Amino acid sequence: MISTDFQFMKLSIIILAAGLGKRMHSEQPKVLHLLADKPLIRHVVDTALILKPDSLYVVYGYKGELVRQAITEPNSQFPIPNSQTNINWIEQAQQLGTGHAVAQVMPNIADDNIILVLCGDVPLINSTILQTLYSQADANHLGMLTVELDNPHGYGRVVRNVAGEVECIVEEKDANVNQKQIKEVNVGVYTIPAVHLRRWLALLNNDNAQGEYYLTDIIALAVQDNLSIYSILTHNIYEVMGVNDRTQLASLERYYQTQQVNRLMLAGVTVMDPTRLDIRGTVQTGRDVSIDVNVILEGEITLGDRVKIGPHTVIRHAKIANDVEILSHCVIENVVIGAGCRIGPFARLRPDTVLAEQVHVGNFVELKKSTVANGSKINHLSYVGDSKVGSGVNIGAGTITCNYDGANKHKTIIEDRAFIGSNTQLVAPVKVGAGATIGAGSTITINAPPDALTYTRSPQKTIADWQRPCKKK
Ligand code: UD1
Ligand code: CA
Repeated sequence: MISTDFQFMKLSIIILAAGLGKRMHSEQPKVLHLLADKPLIRHVVDTALILKPDSLYVVYGYKGELVRQAITEPNSQFPIPNSQTNINWIEQAQQLGTGHAVAQVMPNIADDNIILVLCGDVPLINSTILQTLYSQADANHLGMLTVELDNPHGYGRVVRNVAGEVECIVEEKDANVNQKQIKEVNVGVYTIPAVHLRRWLALLNNDNAQGEYYLTDIIALAVQDNLSIYSILTHNIYEVMGVNDRTQLASLERYYQTQQVNRLMLAGVTVMDPTRLDIRGTVQTGRDVSIDVNVILEGEITLGDRVKIGPHTVIRHAKIANDVEILSHCVIENVVIGAGCRIGPFARLRPDTVLAEQVHVGNFVELKKSTVANGSKINHLSYVGDSKVGSGVNIGAGTITCNYDGANKHKTIIEDRAFIGSNTQLVAPVKVGAGATIGAGSTITINAPPDALTYTRSPQKTIADWQRPCKKK
């Protein structure tokens, strides 16, 4: 036995993500498929970072540039802040197996490291169990996670001797009839001293059913070297389940959603039907929030005390203050909503909209890049874009800010206490003064002065002997 004693072992994490994911039948690399709107690989990277590794490697291959971009590009949906980590990207040009994948990284890793291997397609691996595994790691032990499955088909089986010690891992395709009966399977997560791993990887061959260099073969090599192997049996199958096809992806999504929604309920939120709320991001909640059925919350969301969200509503990135009521069928993105506002039903609040307090936005109203001050009402069938609306304003049904001239966007300013009659077009850039009244049906192209009535209606006529046209024979 080769004994090595390093007093201070460093932690290197390797995430394997080069596989194509044949069973997804997709143009996209498997690890870019989304769970709760976040790429699988990002779940694993985020968990890896909790362990504060000395270095982190991602092995990429199939359409690897896309994988890199999805994580590192500033405009990608879930960029990792540079300050947080440096991910080392290692290309595995040909996918010759998990052992071959790890071997690509080894030239970068010194002997005094413990290597933690994770799979990019096991998104819900939990940092607590990884901490437990790592806390037992040292230069003379190989650690691995296992799980017992009623249906172990497809997984590598953990073969033990009569004393119950791990002897080797046998892949499904290489297993004999007896081995296939084994229900304890390999999760694909190991802690391995680098100094030994380097030696074992050099001994791997691809003499097996899949013609691949299996990382799992190092277990038998460790046994040969008399290195002790410890295994931790996990009990939560979802946390160690790999995504190989879309049914597995869907079942992990459902498990994840159940966890998220339970967390909200335990924090004091009333959820009308826990199976009909999806959370794809982070939600902070005040007291006595209630959420009706078929609601989707995405991105970063804050809900103040007593916020009520009606059914069939999608909210993405929003700060919603106390006592806001959102009625059914609203679509809300990137907005700030002040205390006591009432939104919907059927309202659409688009990005960069800021509502102060007690604002009412009613049915079939679209707001974009607009601010609305306290107590103003836009209750029916209106479009308000690139606008600054003062306080106590009433915007009548069917009001449209014509903010776009075909080339550029222009601003509309509506000052405090203005009253905009129904079916008005405000052709921007234009300003309606404080306390102004705009007569219904007007097309306003010139600034309307404060405290006066402005309208552009043509005089009403009556033609007494008017005949309606008749149908031609
Ligand atoms: C692997 C294990 C199996 C275990 C299972 C758990 C091996 C040989 N088998 O099988 O014992 O039960 O995981 O989920 O390790 N990858 C690369 N490069 C390659 C091949 C794979 O980076 O050349 C990556 C894949 O992208 C994936 C991970 O390694 O993230 C696992 O590969 P996969 O082909 O899914 O292995 P399994 O057959 O699931
Ligand atoms: Ca797999």
